[in-house]
Amino acid sequence: MRLYKLLKNYSKKHITAMHMPGHKRHNFIKNSLPYNLDITEIDGFDNLLSAKTILKNCMTKATNLYNTLQSFYLINGSTCGILTAIKSCCDIGDKIIIAKNCHKSVFNAIELLNLQHVFIDSHFEKDTNIFCDILPSDVKNCLEKNKDAKCVLITSPTYEGVISNIKEIAKVVHKFNIPLIVDEAHGAHLFLENKSAINFGADIVINSLHKTLPSLTQTALLHVCSKRVDLYKIQKNLATFESSSPSYILMASIDECITFMQKYGKKYYDRLQKNLDLFKNKISKLKHLYILGYNSSIPFFDFDKTKIVIFTNNTNISGETLMQKLRENKIELEMCYTNYALAMSTIFDTKKDLMHLCNVLLKIDNSLEHSKNEVYIKNIDSLSVTTIHNALTQEGVFVKFKDSINKVCKEFVYVYPPGIPILVPGQVITKKIYEYIISLEKNNLNVISDFNKLLKEIKVLKNLDK
Ligand SMILES: Cc1ncc(COP(=O)(O)O)c(C=O)c1O
Repeated sequence: MRLYKLLKNYSKKHITAMHMPGHKRHNFIKNSLPYNLDITEIDGFDNLLSAKTILKNCMTKATNLYNTLQSFYLINGSTCGILTAIKSCCDIGDKIIIAKNCHKSVFNAIELLNLQHVFIDSHFEKDTNIFCDILPSDVKNCLEKNKDAKCVLITSPTYEGVISNIKEIAKVVHKFNIPLIVDEAHGAHLFLENKSAINFGADIVINSLHKTLPSLTQTALLHVCSKRVDLYKIQKNLATFESSSPSYILMASIDECITFMQKYGKKYYDRLQKNLDLFKNKISKLKHLYILGYNSSIPFFDFDKTKIVIFTNNTNISGETLMQKLRENKIELEMCYTNYALAMSTIFDTKKDLMHLCNVLLKIDNSLEHSKNEVYIKNIDSLSVTTIHNALTQEGVFVKFKDSINKVCKEFVYVYPPGIPILVPGQVITKKIYEYIISLEKNNLNVISDFNKLLKEIKVLKNLDK
């Protein structure tokens, strides 16, 4: 039985609702929101956090589609899956090994559990300025120096579509008898190409369904893929990080998505691949702009071609200006950085949509001049003098941003999207990081800090210069 159908049938019954939600399934406000389907855990609708009937069946469908040991519904996004995964592998004060390009939710877990984080060396593709794939040899080096680490967490694919060699990384991690968590938030569709980390030895994989598949915002899945993971802990921690009132509308949208992908996923994905091939043929005429894997080669282990990453390095415009020019042509992109902009394609893009994008890009390209754009290197190594948690519990003081060099940061600073921290509490603000943040602002990127005072002021530790 599909959860949506059960909700729809129930919405037609005349039952006096003496329970939550407060709107009582009436749309008194007369808008198009689905109040009639919005219920709570009433008789016949199970309970997500101890699922036994319909929701258990729904999650079994997801488990079967993704071919995992057990897949869990998430209604607070991949964010709550990441918090759950880390808490299920680490205790308070433990050490965790992570990639540098982890999402902010990873650092939030590190803060909450007072973990000590160690970064795996990361590499940048110097022309594109994007994070390369994580090398198994770098994971091995890091593990050899940190044998007390409790787990390894990496992002694959990245926001830009870079896929790491999970098979080899998992082998290395398992030699140290610890689990590998893969933040595959951007890769819920990769199972269709047999490229998901699920198939290559990762122990926990987290997918945002809402990012790339037909499911409502906030919906995601946590997949347990091996016996290295304690299912009891996962269930217990999900109950900590998920809402205790999970939305039935969101859960029904997950079920609809899984049912659709089961029936039509392959067919729609094949259509997308064909349309992307057409796009590739036509876009080869670009003279100045270049697109990873389309009119340029892929310098990574693997790449998700549904991500159309358009580089402006060899032009007289920035990624932000390109995004603006596309907007003027009624095309809205997913994100931009200093030297690139990212168009996301999914199974619901039609040939017409992709051809429109192609034609507008060719038109813009024709109007550009060839020049060398400044690339602001993201790789800004800096030392953390204490854990995130310790930094946040120490006394802080606001200083003018220009006076913050060599001080120890007491807030998170990141660009959103992608939500990868540039500074975390406890980290030294070096001159390079300072200049990098200034350059991001100059490029009109959305730099966010916890206290929202950048670029005027930043909070630093009171008693700790470097
Ligand atoms: C790499 C990565 N992981 C996790 C998340 C969090 O996903 P969600 O928005 O589904 O909570 C994001 C969000 O952008 C992300 O980019």
